[in-house]
Formats: sequence, C-alpha cells, structure tokens
Amino acid sequence: MGDQMTSQNFISQKREGCTKIRKSPSFPLYQRATKGGFGSVLTALLILSGPAVAFAASGDNAFTPTNIFVPLSTPAHAIYQISLLVLLICAAIFVIVGGLLAYSIFRFRRRPEHENLEPPQVYGSNQIELAWTVIPILIVFVLILVTTRTIYDVQGALPPPDSVNATVVGHQWWWEIRYPDLGIVTANELHVPVTESGKRRPTFIRLESADVAHSFWVPQLAGKIDLIPNRRNLVWIEPTEPGTYVGNCAEYCGLQHARMLLRVIAHTPDDFQKWVAAQKQPPVDNPQLRAGRDAFFSTSCINCHAIRETNAAGKFGPDLTHLMSRETLGAGVIANTVENLQAWVRDPQHAKPGALMPNMQLTDGELNQMVAYLSSLK
Ligand code: CUA
Repeated sequence: MGDQMTSQNFISQKREGCTKIRKSPSFPLYQRATKGGFGSVLTALLILSGPAVAFAASGDNAFTPTNIFVPLSTPAHAIYQISLLVLLICAAIFVIVGGLLAYSIFRFRRRPEHENLEPPQVYGSNQIELAWTVIPILIVFVLILVTTRTIYDVQGALPPPDSVNATVVGHQWWWEIRYPDLGIVTANELHVPVTESGKRRPTFIRLESADVAHSFWVPQLAGKIDLIPNRRNLVWIEPTEPGTYVGNCAEYCGLQHARMLLRVIAHTPDDFQKWVAAQKQPPVDNPQLRAGRDAFFSTSCINCHAIRETNAAGKFGPDLTHLMSRETLGAGVIANTVENLQAWVRDPQHAKPGALMPNMQLTDGELNQMVAYLSSLK
C-alpha cells in the first residue's frame, strides 16, 4: 500500500518534471552545448585528418610510398574515390551522432533539482524506431550499390590488346614472378610498362601460392588480393607514372611475413622493352669464373635455384639467371651489392632468420669463388 503511494507520487512528480524541462529550455545552455559538441567534434576530425590531407595534398611519392590517398594506377583511383565517399558518409554519421551525444550530455546533465526525476519516456515511438531503421538501411544500400559498381568495374575489366601478363607466386618469404608470354622469370621485383598519353599498357597478374596464404598489396597501384594455395586470383595494375612502387605481403604467412617485400618498377614503354630484352639474354658464362660456377653446380644450390640454360632448374628459390639486375636480396631485406651477396650466401639466417635457404657451410675460398660467379649474373 505504502509502496503504491510512493510510486504514484513519483509518477506525478516525474510528469511535472518533464513538462518543466520542455517548457523552459535554457537557451544559453543549448547554445553552449551545441557549440561544444559540434565544434569540438569538428576540431577533432580536422586534427585527425590533418596528416592524411597533408600527405594527399603533397602528392610526393617519395614520402608516401604506401599511401592509398595518392593513387597512381587506374584500379587504385577507383578504390580511392569510393573510399573518399565512404569516409565522407562515415564522417557525417560521426559528426551527427557525436554532436547529438555531446549535446545530450551537456543539455540533460544531472542537476540537483532533478534528483528524483526520470527523463521523458520515448519507448515505442514509431517515428524514432522508423528513423533509426530506415536511414541506416538507405545508407547501407547506397554503399552496397556504389561498392558493387566499383568491384564490377575493377574485376570485370578486360585486358586491352597491349596489356602485359604476369604470374606472381607467393612463397615463404619471397615473390616468384613469371611472364609466361615473354619467357622471363624473376623475383620480388615486378617490372611493368606505364600507361602513357592514352596508350593503355596495364599488367594483368595471376596470383598463386606455393605454400600458405599470402597477400599482394601495392597500395598506390591496386587493392589487396590474397594468394591462396590451389587457387588462382586475378589483379591488374595500370601505373600512370614511371617509378618504383613498394608493397608487401599483407597476410600473415609465418616468421618472415613482415619482410616479404615487393617492388613494382614501372618503366616508360621504351625502357620496359629494354628490360625485357636484357632479361631474355642467356646467362653470362665467363670462363674465368669457372671455379665459382663449378662450386655452385656441385652443391645442392641447384636443387632450389634455377639458372636458365643450365642444369640448375630448382623451383623452391628465386631464379638467378639475372640475379644482379635486381635491387634487393632476400625479398627487400638488404640491398643487392656484392658485399651483401657474400654475407647473404655465407649465412642467409643472419639477415633473415627462418629463411628457407640454409647456411651451406662453405669455406672462404668456395664462398669467394661462388660469389664471383653469382655476381656476374647481370
Ligand atoms: Cu607472405 Cu605474409
């Protein structure tokens, strides 16, 4: 009985409270709250987006080698545009929700005179329920449509007549790169022509894996695509400016996943032809380096490495036919110099612990001869 009385009193008190709040909204407070809410949220957004905007505006490739906001390839442009739209929609949602939240926190904060009051109960309001069901569905629907269109544009693109075909095979922890139409095999550095003055030269790449799942990602050139064992995925790139684009494996694939680096070197069409011609040359065979050659061919190196037109036909490791034409060793771990090559062959585990290339326990004499031979493979 007593309880009932109390709750009756409470309800009437509550109703009075509601009316009071609605009838006398304290306007200066409202202003301050909105200002604080929207103003601080906007300021925070600007501060957060500052570096990205600065990077994007600078457009300097040297400082932004893996920035998706500086796309320099056709599919990367499509992804960039859609990501701007998504960011814009999400920023608007963030500002509106954050602003309303900040406003409510200030405007309806706890006050001593409302100690025993409850706020107005809006449970079951059809308008509110409809608004927060229909608006998100519309937003998601727009995003689905725009995303689907971009996916179709990128994935459904047909190779133009002058496009280049390449196959990239992910290994623990390096990239095998093949050009089936050109008869070239290399590693870790994908050479491609650029699209210049409207003459399209995209490169269509088949992605495969020799062991576990890897992921091909060169942010300025295209989206991220996985390399899955027993599956073939496709990606294409179409750089519009010559230069070196860096990327790396983007799917955890074991101990040296972080050092499975990838370079895409985009050439002018003439330079690309020169690179192709150089790579098609047979390997150098200098009679003065016979001792090193014999040392190489008498060890188990040839079980894993190939040198074209020789007995070395291994496929577990990178093709060495034009080893010295590459910029790095160990998939981007060290620069490809004769000294580094020597250190690498002496003990690959030092530069890249866990690499599948073992320490061959060569004597200093064997090592020097072998490195002299390998460093002639230009
Ligand atoms: Cu390959 Cu991570």
